[in-house]
Amino acid sequence: MRSLLPCAVILTAASFIFAAPSPRTSPYKVKESVFPPQDWKIHSPSPPEHNIELKIGLPQPNFHVLEKHLYEVSDPSHPRYGQHLSKAEVEAIVAPHPESLELVTEWLASHGLGEEDITRSPAKDWMTITVPVREAEKMLDTTYHVWKHTTTGESIIRTTSFSLPIHLHDHIDVIQPTTTFARLRSFKSTVHKVDKETGQVVAQSNTPIISASGISVDPSCNTTITVSCLKQLYNAKGITPSATTENSFGITGYLNQFANFQDLQSFYALEVPEAVNSSFRVISVAGGQNNQTLSEAGDEADLDIEFGFGITFPINGTFFTTAGSPPFIPDMNNPTDTNEPYTTWLDFVLAQEEIPLVITTSYGDGEQTVPKSFAIRVCAGFAQLGARGVSLTFSSGDGGVGDGDPDPTTQTCITNDGKNRTEFLPLFPASCPFVTAVGGTTHVPEVAANFSGGGFSNYFTRPSYQNAAVSAFLDNLPKGTFAGLFNRNGRAYPDVAAQADNFQVVAGGEVQLFGGTSAASPTFAGFVALLNDARLKAGLPSLGFLNPLLYSTAISAFNDITSGNAPGCGTEGFNATVGWDPVTGLGTPDVGKLIKLVRYL
Ligand SMILES: *[C@@H]1O[C@H](CO)[C@@H](O)[C@H](O)[C@H]1NC(C)=O
Ligand SMILES: *[C@@H]1O[C@H](CO)[C@@H](O)[C@H](O)[C@H]1NC(C)=O
Ligand SMILES: *[C@@H]1O[C@H](CO)[C@@H](O)[C@H](O)[C@H]1NC(C)=O
Ligand SMILES: *[C@@H]1O[C@H](CO)[C@@H](O)[C@H](O)[C@H]1NC(C)=O
Ligand SMILES: *[C@@H]1O[C@H](CO)[C@@H](O)[C@H](O)[C@H]1NC(C)=O
Ligand SMILES: *[C@@H]1O[C@H](CO)[C@@H](O)[C@H](O)[C@H]1NC(C)=O
Ligand SMILES: *[C@@H]1O[C@H](CO)[C@@H](O)[C@H](O)[C@H]1NC(C)=O
Repeated sequence: MRSLLPCAVILTAASFIFAAPSPRTSPYKVKESVFPPQDWKIHSPSPPEHNIELKIGLPQPNFHVLEKHLYEVSDPSHPRYGQHLSKAEVEAIVAPHPESLELVTEWLASHGLGEEDITRSPAKDWMTITVPVREAEKMLDTTYHVWKHTTTGESIIRTTSFSLPIHLHDHIDVIQPTTTFARLRSFKSTVHKVDKETGQVVAQSNTPIISASGISVDPSCNTTITVSCLKQLYNAKGITPSATTENSFGITGYLNQFANFQDLQSFYALEVPEAVNSSFRVISVAGGQNNQTLSEAGDEADLDIEFGFGITFPINGTFFTTAGSPPFIPDMNNPTDTNEPYTTWLDFVLAQEEIPLVITTSYGDGEQTVPKSFAIRVCAGFAQLGARGVSLTFSSGDGGVGDGDPDPTTQTCITNDGKNRTEFLPLFPASCPFVTAVGGTTHVPEVAANFSGGGFSNYFTRPSYQNAAVSAFLDNLPKGTFAGLFNRNGRAYPDVAAQADNFQVVAGGEVQLFGGTSAASPTFAGFVALLNDARLKAGLPSLGFLNPLLYSTAISAFNDITSGNAPGCGTEGFNATVGWDPVTGLGTPDVGKLIKLVRYL
């Protein structure tokens, strides 16, 4: 089973040298300062008695050790492949230095906050406190304001700069909410919602059509995607996973997107009759709801559960519903301001012993709306899940090279660094190197969906697993193409792709067609769960963090998508090309080939 890792324990204590003794009080100095995004404006002073939940991230001095383990257990050519770490092992590695714990605890005590006021993460790398804004302002030597979003009218309480006593600067990585202006959005774009009439299943002829990999597919799949179409296209027809293995599959839900049981049954009756009467488990995170009134059914949530659970039936399915949804009106009656909800989810899930082996997320936002320090910590949380054997997929976004705004005519693509430059804007979490970002294709034979999000991170450098693939793409890009508009050395995404348009969904009791990379992520993730089924049946561990496998041994088991492009930021965007490209990644999966391969790793 799992190997023990003695080195982790030793390194925790030894690899961080402090200058001692530290002063216990010191003058304040600015810790972090950001420019607010263009679409957020100061609205009013913050109500002083408004409670704010502050999350304090202590440095993880041995994160590089975790990263090394992660890459070893995820690299199919490494002897430790598949030897995932336990919860306790991961927590021991990411634990903060005792001196950080002591100094930060002491600082909180000096503001009247005792152990009973602090919630600590299992690894003790996060401390959470709830204080009135006036107290947070004192602790951080800052002034909070209510900020309003210029187009959606959402409001949040944030600041553009905060300070800490100098002696704490090396002992605190991040404190949020302070400078984060992210606005989580769902990638099920309403602009791709197709009219039932025009999108209805219309067989152009009765002759099967042929996919890029030479597989014959029902003609209706060119205009309407069903679970059966995806199984045909991705060579997964007849592959039936088993319910009796320890396999599991999870879907995250945010923004009051409720997964409707009745819609799922109607969908099953239509597309997956053998699954009728089967259901899924709902886990509420931080008080997240799952209202079953049909009018409350979420388009995004229904799309995700219907295709995700439809592909993976009868594997045990979990839907996580995480609270926190705009518009948030900060006033005295609305007692807490929340962080970006995917960190709330991450905290919750990292504290669990049992986590679904594959988890898909169809939400994200512009990388630049998340301060770099915070993005790094969130991404480090995803690495922890990978080290524990969990595969994470995220939609790559629906705005091509733009900021996730699916309408290319309103995309601004303005940097948030005080210079207001025009640049391609990558999305987060897709830009995190420890997740698998899924782009979109459409039609048969498959071409790149013209909204498929892709690009290059400005925060994360290119991980070595994608060096060869991404260099080949850049080498073939005509000299000077989009010069200055993207970071050639950044983590490039998406990693892979799947169909992303004309998905036939039952939502709110109606049959509708939806599109967006929101559809692609649960699709790809669903097939990964089938790969896990094959591995578990063969007595092997789950796949865990996928990318090192995808870019090496598995590369030949992808259908390369070589045509189409995804416009954005007033350009035609990148092209889908032979080999990896920032529109469709390595391409779409050939599940039959992948299963043969992963059974022997
Ligand atoms: C599928 O639809 C696309 C777009 O309408 C079209 O270009 C393509 O030829 C169709 N495929 C087949 C096999 O008819
Ligand atoms: C599936 O999940 C349920 C809890 O929802 C659990 O009782 C059951 O044992 C799980 N089945 C398997 C095969 O793990
Ligand atoms: C589903 O449950 C209903 C009510 O219990 C039953 O009548 C029906 O036969 C079941 N359908 C399947 C496919 O199991
Ligand atoms: C569910 O939503 C309906 C319609 O919006 C509302 O009337 C009802 O109170 C909600 N139920 C719960 C438990 O919140
Ligand atoms: C950038 O845009 C903001 C908001 O529109 C403006 O306040 C600021 O002066 C601009 N900065 C530069 C360098 O143009
Ligand atoms: C993408 O293609 C659709 C039709 O297939 C078209 O309506 C839309 O304008 C295109 N979008 C862009 C950004 O080119
Ligand atoms: C995409 O391909 C078209 C047609 O071959 C070409 O004109 C264009 O320059 C390419 N764009 C990029 C960014 O490579």
